[in-house]
Amino acid sequence: MKPKEKIFQVLNKSDDVVSGETMSAELGVSRVSIWKHIKGMVASGIPIVSTPKGYRLNRDPDRLMPLEFGSRRDRIHYFQETTSTMDEAAALARKGCPEFTVVVAQRQTRGRGRMMRTWLSADGGLYFNVVLRPEIPIVLAGLVNMAAAIDMAHLLESSYKIEARLKWPNDLLVNGKKICGVLSQAEIEGAQIAYMNIGIGLNVNNSPEIEEPVAISMKALLGEPMPRRELLEAFLNLFEKRMTDFNSFAVIDQWRLRNVTLGQSVRIVTIKDEVEGTAIDIDDHGGLIVELDDGTRRIVTYGDCFHN
Ligand code: BTN
Repeated sequence: MKPKEKIFQVLNKSDDVVSGETMSAELGVSRVSIWKHIKGMVASGIPIVSTPKGYRLNRDPDRLMPLEFGSRRDRIHYFQETTSTMDEAAALARKGCPEFTVVVAQRQTRGRGRMMRTWLSADGGLYFNVVLRPEIPIVLAGLVNMAAAIDMAHLLESSYKIEARLKWPNDLLVNGKKICGVLSQAEIEGAQIAYMNIGIGLNVNNSPEIEEPVAISMKALLGEPMPRRELLEAFLNLFEKRMTDFNSFAVIDQWRLRNVTLGQSVRIVTIKDEVEGTAIDIDDHGGLIVELDDGTRRIVTYGDCFHN
C-alpha cells in the first residue's frame, strides 16, 4: 500500500485526531515525511485538517474521490470537471483499462444525452461511466443498458423509497419526470464487444427542473440532499454482480415489471424515421414491438419514445 493510501486508511479508521507521532510509527517513516504526504493529499483535494494535536479527516459521505472507495479505489477515476465522462472512459477503455473501471465527475461541461441531446451536468448530480467487457453476443448489448437502468430503479426503490419506472428503452421516470438516463457506446472487434462504456446521469442534489421542467432530482423528491458515494457504491455492487452472470431473460422480465411504456400509445422518433402505434412488448434483444394502426407490427431498436 502506498504511503498516501495508508495515511488515508489510518485517518479514516479514527474518529479522533491522529498525532504525527502515531502516524509515523504506523508507517515507519519520519514525521516530516508524513507532513509532506499530507500536504500533497490536501493539495489534491482530500480534506485533512491539521490541528495542534495532529491530523483529522473531514468525513463527507458525498465525496467521490478514489481513496474513499475501499477496494474499488484503483478502478475509480475522479474528475472535478470534465467535458464528458463518456470521453474519459472511452479513452481508458481503448488503452485497455480493467473491466469495471469507473469514471465519475463532479460536473461536466459537455454532458451528453441520447439522440445528441445535452445532459445538464451541474454540481450535485451523479455523472459516471462504467467500462465493461461483456462476453455476450452483440445483439444483446442493448439489454446491458436496460439492466443498468433496472438496477438503478431497484436501488432507488429499495434504499430511498423512490418508485422509478422505466420508459423504453432505459429512462427512469418518477411520476412522469426524468430522474436518470443511460447512454452507452461500444466498440466491436470482429464478432465480439471489445468494450462497452455505460454512462449514467442521476439527478441527486442538482436542480435540473429549473431548466428542464420534465426532470426531477432525488433532493426535490426527498426534501433533503443525499450523499452520493454510498449510492454509487451500492449501484456498482448491484451492477457488477449482475454483469458477472448476465441473464438476458431476467433483464427482459424485470424490465417488463417496472416499465411504463407497454400498453401505451407511443411515437418513436429515430434519426430518419417516425413510428406511431401501440407498444405491445419488447423482443429478446430489448427492441420495442409496436403495433401500427393497420395491425402490422414493427420492431424498433432505438429512438426517442414519446407516450401520447
Ligand atoms: C439520456 O439521454 O437519457 C442519457 C443521459 C446520460 C448522461 C450520462 S452522465 C454521465 C455520462 N456522461 C455523459 O456525457 N453522458 C452520460
